[in-house]
Amino acid sequence: MSVNEINDKIREAAKVAAQYHTDNVGAPAATRLEWPVAVSVNKGLEGAIACETKIGYVDGVNGRLVYRGHDSFELSEHSNFEETSYLLLYGKMPNAAEYKAFDEKLKGYRKLPHEIYDALKLGAVKTAHPMTSLYITTGMLGALDQKSEDVSWQNQEEIAIRLISRISTLVGEIARLRKGLEPVEPDLSLGHAANLVYMMTGSKPDEATTKLMDIALILHADHGMNASTFTAMVANSSLSDMYSSVVAGITSLKGSLHGGANEKVLYDLEEIGTPDKAEEWFKKAREEKRKVMGFGHRVYKAYDPRARIFGPLVEFMARRNPEINNLYSIAKKLDAIICEQFGKEKKIFPNVDFYSGLIYRGMGIETAMFTPIFAASRISGWTARILEYLKENRLFRPRAVYTGETKAEYIPIDKR
Ligand code: CMC
Repeated sequence: MSVNEINDKIREAAKVAAQYHTDNVGAPAATRLEWPVAVSVNKGLEGAIACETKIGYVDGVNGRLVYRGHDSFELSEHSNFEETSYLLLYGKMPNAAEYKAFDEKLKGYRKLPHEIYDALKLGAVKTAHPMTSLYITTGMLGALDQKSEDVSWQNQEEIAIRLISRISTLVGEIARLRKGLEPVEPDLSLGHAANLVYMMTGSKPDEATTKLMDIALILHADHGMNASTFTAMVANSSLSDMYSSVVAGITSLKGSLHGGANEKVLYDLEEIGTPDKAEEWFKKAREEKRKVMGFGHRVYKAYDPRARIFGPLVEFMARRNPEINNLYSIAKKLDAIICEQFGKEKKIFPNVDFYSGLIYRGMGIETAMFTPIFAASRISGWTARILEYLKENRLFRPRAVYTGETKAEYIPIDKR
């Protein structure tokens, strides 16, 4: 597989996505309640508008993802994680000098403070779910930063760049510790994506593998007002510090309805075992009313453009790797079955998490590390949106409709 072939696939995926169009689907009717005035409540804040932004847009009807006006297909073909992070943070593509300065800054922050290795050696950090290990050690980074409590915009911006660099290093070290390996220094001669693969797998990736990791980091970097971005922004809106807000983002991303789905998809594919069992497996999941991981989306009512890119790229990997070949055949079968049965009726299609894990598995990465890779990318979106909102910060403070009792009487414990 060559980089040219990868780019050909991205262009083909962009063409397929451009042909696709779906009818607008209305949100379910809001529940109307009389409290204390007439209000509308949509479960899960569906359709609620939290703020204005210039960072990124998810066109859920037509299956498009845009960062600062740039289409995700175009960025996947031409950009890398460093450039995309700059774009998200600063609203424009860097020129050569700006790119060099930003890249040097990221590299300058790549090594971890030596004290963090004491935290990484803790038994619980080695054995816990790696997302738990990630938020513990991210919190430690904050504890070790004497200036973490300075919530001025300039200081939070500097911390943002530090975290964009260091979350990847933490992910690399956690991956090694889980395999019983000693920590390794990040390689400053490598770009961001290549260094992440190097730290996680122990070997320097070839050009195509680096490109695939860059695509994965680009495509996960931002995605509208998703649960973890909103969580991070809510935490920061109280003027908490950037480290704490990013820890909040990581905790939200961990769940299987959000970033945690990529890990669960792999377990499901392994459980299915062979393509001929996919139909029966899905029938059972339907009967049990189980959600199929890697399918459906609150905003996309069309095929997720990120899945459009990942699917054909997994096909490349499948050609040279029999294990991926089998898992990919199962995935394709499940994709076809669910699009056929749920696509028209419920607008349920594969999302980003359905194929991404197969890309990482093809790189030899442990399944439990898939969601931490998501975090190593989404850190750019979290920090960009926190910094954008911080410029004109206002505390997030919605209300809930109280449906409980209002005149309960206190009865002494011995009389209850
Ligand atoms: N499998 C089966 N049915 C589904 C699925 C699914 N994956 N997703 C939605 N549905 C059905 C659901 O059962 C419901 O049906 P009905 O109206 O008959 O009760 C209907 O579609 C609406 O579902 P919902 O749960 O109210 O939709 P939502 O907007 O709250 O959920 C979602 C969005 C992503 C949480 C959901 O689609 C889901 O749980 N998917 C599986 C987990 C997953 O893949 N998450 C990753 C999301 S994309 C990456 C990211 O943001 O992290």
